[in-house]
Amino acid sequence: MDTTGTGSPSGESKYSRLIEPTRVHGSLYTDEQIFAEELAKIWYATWVFVGHESEIPEPNDYIRKKLGLQDVVMTRDRDGEVHLLLNRCAHRANLVCDDARGNSSSFRCPYHGWTYRNTGELLGYPYNKGYGGKNNLDLTMGKVPRVASYQGFVFGSFAQDGPSLVEHLGGAAGEIDRLANLSPEGKVELTAGWLQHKTKANWKLLTENETDGYHPQFVHGSIFGVTGSPIGALYSDASTAVTRNLGNGHSENDLRPEFRKFDEPMRWFGTTESRVPDYVEAIRARHGEDAERILVEGAPHVMVFPNLFIAEIQVFNIQPVAADECVQYATAVQLAGAPELNKRMISQSIGSVGPAGMLLADDTEMYERNQRGVGMLAPEWLDVRRGIHREQTDENGFTIGTATDEVGMRGFWAHYKKLMEADQ
Ligand code: FES
Repeated sequence: MDTTGTGSPSGESKYSRLIEPTRVHGSLYTDEQIFAEELAKIWYATWVFVGHESEIPEPNDYIRKKLGLQDVVMTRDRDGEVHLLLNRCAHRANLVCDDARGNSSSFRCPYHGWTYRNTGELLGYPYNKGYGGKNNLDLTMGKVPRVASYQGFVFGSFAQDGPSLVEHLGGAAGEIDRLANLSPEGKVELTAGWLQHKTKANWKLLTENETDGYHPQFVHGSIFGVTGSPIGALYSDASTAVTRNLGNGHSENDLRPEFRKFDEPMRWFGTTESRVPDYVEAIRARHGEDAERILVEGAPHVMVFPNLFIAEIQVFNIQPVAADECVQYATAVQLAGAPELNKRMISQSIGSVGPAGMLLADDTEMYERNQRGVGMLAPEWLDVRRGIHREQTDENGFTIGTATDEVGMRGFWAHYKKLMEADQ
């Protein structure tokens, strides 16, 4: 298939030819021109997850992050407002900020010594007579024009206007609320540090996989077997869990029906209430009659388009590098006021997504095998039809399927296509 054109004689768009309801073309994962279009139409256009407010809790804290290929500095100014600065000097484009994180009200470019406030405003430049004196230059560091946060999760959008973050999150917002509700103080904190997994695969293979309930029994069968984990059963033909297209490219594996069946507080965390009594008591004190439901239903498993994955007790930030490479940043969820859980979440995360962890290594092996596979000439397509004949609509109007259906992938591709077909 010729994937280079922008249209066809019939007027069909390039992306209509590459994305069909039940299959997607392999070039979507390998074509550098498509990757460049994705940067422009997705990563530098829609809301993208960057970091969490708890990473810069104090005035003048900052931390370096990625947004697509952009090196950004997430800062908190002296008044508490969060900014996303592009790490580029307005003089001759040198990188301004070197340290991975710190606390400073200003940054100094190492090349010619220009200084900037942590809001991006130019503070000064040496030997100012060369510019006719002080405060004579109308220059600032670049900034991501729209920054917004939800439950402390900070997103940036290079689009000057468009849907608000809450509109973009839509049905996924309630899933983020579910995570925050698990904190006795109602606050998520991403303060455990981020692991970085460089992955030789297209970023979309990861986002599709995050709510693919078809693979766990096979890819993760060994770890489920060794640990005696009941997770595998959640993703089987017998499971009552639901895969849901939440709209706007977001999707989830809703495991709540399975946990409701057992009706056991903390089963979602692989434990019992007697082993974390302080935590359970704190949640009961905070949530009153909602507490039992919250303790039984547990944390969400939701993929927020295009790059935030909340995997119950871990959060992932997926950032692209090239058509065939991305980085998975992973951290353990920390819940304010829940020290009993927080320690366990860190040790469980080390065991599952750490450098020698057993879960993410399995997934990453699949991503990289997939990337090698899509480079083969035939067959040209990837199939995403699983369960399309048994899709239903839930009480909120979302499309749902069984635990192992590819409902999430179809939702992802419908939104992806809409964005990629939009005029710039
Ligand atoms: Fe930054 Fe010259 S490039 S001061």
